[in-house]
Amino acid sequence: MSKLTWARALVALTAVGCGNGETPAAASGGGGSGSACPKPGISKRPWTLGIDETSARLRWEACADTASRDVELTPEAGGAAQTFTATSTAFTIDNTYYAPFNADAPADEAGTYFNRQALLTGLTAGTCYRYRVGGSDAHAGRFCTARAPGSSFRVLAMADTNPGLGDATKRLLAVADELDYDFSIHAGDVQYYASGFDTWVYWFAALAPMLRQGAFYPSIGNHELENDDEYDQYYLRFFDKAGFGGTDAYYRVDSGGVSFFTLNTEATLDAASEQLGWFKGEIAAAKARPGYRFSVVYFHKPFITCGDKSQNSSARQLFEPLFEEHGVALVVQGHMHGYERFEVPLSDPTKTITYLTVGGGGGLLGDIDANADRPVCAQRKSHGKFHHMALLEITASGLAGRVFDPDGVTRDEFDIPSP
Ligand SMILES: [Fe+2]
Repeated sequence: MSKLTWARALVALTAVGCGNGETPAAASGGGGSGSACPKPGISKRPWTLGIDETSARLRWEACADTASRDVELTPEAGGAAQTFTATSTAFTIDNTYYAPFNADAPADEAGTYFNRQALLTGLTAGTCYRYRVGGSDAHAGRFCTARAPGSSFRVLAMADTNPGLGDATKRLLAVADELDYDFSIHAGDVQYYASGFDTWVYWFAALAPMLRQGAFYPSIGNHELENDDEYDQYYLRFFDKAGFGGTDAYYRVDSGGVSFFTLNTEATLDAASEQLGWFKGEIAAAKARPGYRFSVVYFHKPFITCGDKSQNSSARQLFEPLFEEHGVALVVQGHMHGYERFEVPLSDPTKTITYLTVGGGGGLLGDIDANADRPVCAQRKSHGKFHHMALLEITASGLAGRVFDPDGVTRDEFDIPSP
């Protein structure tokens, strides 16, 4: 983060911002336009996570405690509506942060907010639902419960989103909005205070097309920890208990007999690490469950890359044998701002494992060939310096991938048979 950005980003204002009324005083200064509490008192639109066969977590942030807590839930294919009521927890934000280079980005203002969560229970497996909060179409969306083993479904994969920097993230999400996917996995660097173009308020508005389409399962990147309080006051407040097993920082979600594991590359992955011990047990248990097909693992800092970032070869040495043993079909990485696809031979010479780098979600593109002399680059099958996201289609026979750019042009396609 530049000194200029730091200097302008951190301004502590206490008891200012969205407070107890619907039109609290907005903080001033910085590049933001202020963020008065909009009617009907929802300051961050709803999102979903923590979904299994029969339950889901629906969250949003209210800036007025008087805002409705009611959720109307209807099966997408038709059926009776159910009503749920969210819990509300007051939360005090200590500091105000600005996006000094983006006049369209409201500040993340200090003040009191209300974390809303509705536990949606008694749902039907393999079913997509539509929700509305407070009867508002502006606060509506959908999600799908976990599919039955063997089902086909789609997942959106991305990383390094930076919606305030140019229009790449927004254009990618507009393309993705035409795709029918159950949920998205994000390989880290979710929001970029460091760019000077993003705030969390801005992020939630810009990422609305993805949040209203399905559940959001983030991985922790280095930019989730930019400011001392960002991880606790923002990231965890929004995205704790995202999945199952593990912790808030590394976890698993399942659908259709496929397990999706995220690791936290901001913490150690060495031989004695908690994460390695957890992953060993967790993926063995996943494989033992009836209907298991394969796994996808995603994380931020890459195990392999030919671009302008380091690669964690020691972690790869520890984890890759587990990937092979337990049927990991695909590894999704971020952090290097470009696209890469590797097919890496495993110890069984008849098998390979695919690594994708999907770091082109909207940040400034990097040098994808800065370390092209690394031996692993002989296994790089596709790469390019362009913004992109990937659609992963879980099929009857495995996984089909399609990588698209902000114009909607398909830049790479691949098929991975079920291991
Ligand atoms: Fe990063």
